[in-house]
Amino acid sequence: MNKREDLYEKIVELAVRRGFFWQSYEIYGGVAGLVDLGPLGAVLKRNIEEKWREWFIIRHQDFIVEIETPMITPRAVFEASGHLEHFTDPIVECRRCGRKFRADHLVEEKTGTTVEGLKPYELTKIIKENDIKCPICNGNLGEVREFSLLFQTTIGPYSENVGFLRPEAAQGMFTSFKRVYEAMRGKLPLGIGQIGRVGRNEISPRQGVIRLREFTIMEVEFFFDPEEPSCPLLPEVENDEIRLISGDMKKAKTKEPIVVTVREGLKKKLIVNEWLAYFLAIGQKFVKDLGIPLEKQVFEEKLPYERAHYSTQTFDQLVKVSRWGWIEVAGHSYRGRYDLSRHIAYSRKDLTVYRQFREPRLVRIEELEVDAEKLKEFYGENSAKILRAISESDKNILLKELESKGYLSIAGFRIPKELFKVKVVEREMKGKRFIPHVVEPSYGAERLLYATLEYAYTIKEGRVILKLPKDIAPISVAVLPLVNREPLVNLARKIYDNLKLTKLRAIYDSSGSIGRRYARSDEIGIPLALTVDYRSLENNTVTLRDRDTWRQVRIKIEEAYKKIPLYIKGELTFEQLGTPVS
Ligand code: GLY
Repeated sequence: MNKREDLYEKIVELAVRRGFFWQSYEIYGGVAGLVDLGPLGAVLKRNIEEKWREWFIIRHQDFIVEIETPMITPRAVFEASGHLEHFTDPIVECRRCGRKFRADHLVEEKTGTTVEGLKPYELTKIIKENDIKCPICNGNLGEVREFSLLFQTTIGPYSENVGFLRPEAAQGMFTSFKRVYEAMRGKLPLGIGQIGRVGRNEISPRQGVIRLREFTIMEVEFFFDPEEPSCPLLPEVENDEIRLISGDMKKAKTKEPIVVTVREGLKKKLIVNEWLAYFLAIGQKFVKDLGIPLEKQVFEEKLPYERAHYSTQTFDQLVKVSRWGWIEVAGHSYRGRYDLSRHIAYSRKDLTVYRQFREPRLVRIEELEVDAEKLKEFYGENSAKILRAISESDKNILLKELESKGYLSIAGFRIPKELFKVKVVEREMKGKRFIPHVVEPSYGAERLLYATLEYAYTIKEGRVILKLPKDIAPISVAVLPLVNREPLVNLARKIYDNLKLTKLRAIYDSSGSIGRRYARSDEIGIPLALTVDYRSLENNTVTLRDRDTWRQVRIKIEEAYKKIPLYIKGELTFEQLGTPVS
């Protein structure tokens, strides 16, 4: 068996047996792309989320805040965001057996070439030219078409009231931008972060926990003034080295990343914006804190046809895992003004912000005037309604619409250009309204959870040790009486109860030999085992055993309650916990 596959199988076996994750709805045969997180997996994921909060929210809390918005989203939002049009994958159906396949993956498997970004008709052509058949029944394949990855539902009892599960948390942050901006006293830069569930109706997910139809996304939409794009925090990370594969390197078929400092990456224009560069550096520190070394992380620039429709530059943050090689754990995108300007155009609400100039400036502006007399003449009593709708809309947006379409659709009427006048006036302006630009770091929590498990998985003397970082491990300490007998059991139980009061996650385990219990505890990554032995009864001390080195120290019970939380947070070394046991 391939060594890589072996590791994946081992992780899945451990995950299912010990309660990290398994396929959802197993008793009904399971559903591809849906996983349950078990008791250990749910806490591990929460700890990863907490680590993300530490890096992205808490250390920037004066200008990055976290919100929560719904999964269920009305159609209008995804019309505006472009997801209805663009969030699709190519699908092809077998004419004989009716099975459906992801067309680009099928072509890639059969021809060995990448076809990302090709149009359906181009894929159909390749399928025909290469005589690619149904991989199940060898039947002929039909035409390739686009398949929407949005899960559709209805909101309430009205079938026309179409809604979708969000495929990214981002849109809730764009649609709420103005509210958050005002709540944060109208200052830029402003980051809005969110951790939430998303749904993507993947055609045929086959990569277990790596490609899911429902998962947790952790993302920040970071809004800034495009005329003030510099990042004052850059000096903190500018000398950090990142491993990077640029678009040009990909075009030249260079597979090996180059190592550049964040500053060099900007100087060489490999990264288009300082905030984007800053979040790459923060992002690699976050992932390193999950136990994934820097040399196993790469930032790969997406080529234009590989990028999402909203992006002008995207780096995928890749992590190397055993079975699938480099997988994407995050996308870092420069979304520019795309999303806000689309929502402005579709909602006709003003989502711009105001910037005061240092000195007043003379600015030429276009003003829209409607000919009220003519409007009355043509639209009679409806003209009042139309005038009201015009006065409630952003004039700049109406102006743009008039310019592009030659008419205005408003209040249920189509008003021709001729009923409007555009006046160019010169005004002294103290400031101007503009649309902020956005960079977005966006992480998938379950992928990180898998990668974290893989990097923690180690074998020592033939046994599995899950070397999870101490503050990520779902359980911090295992309390073990040396033997399952009184009075050791009574004291161990008391210590366990007191540890729970310190809010640490602990388990009590008294069944089987102490060696087997250490092994069980190591296998799920518990950093410390606290053992109550006969000396504990004499002098109120216990032993603490380090998961990774198996070294032991003896510590006073009262001190253990204070020192163990500090050790888990990384504020004490193992040696500082007590006196070594020889
Ligand atoms: N918001 C990032 C994504 O859709 O992947």
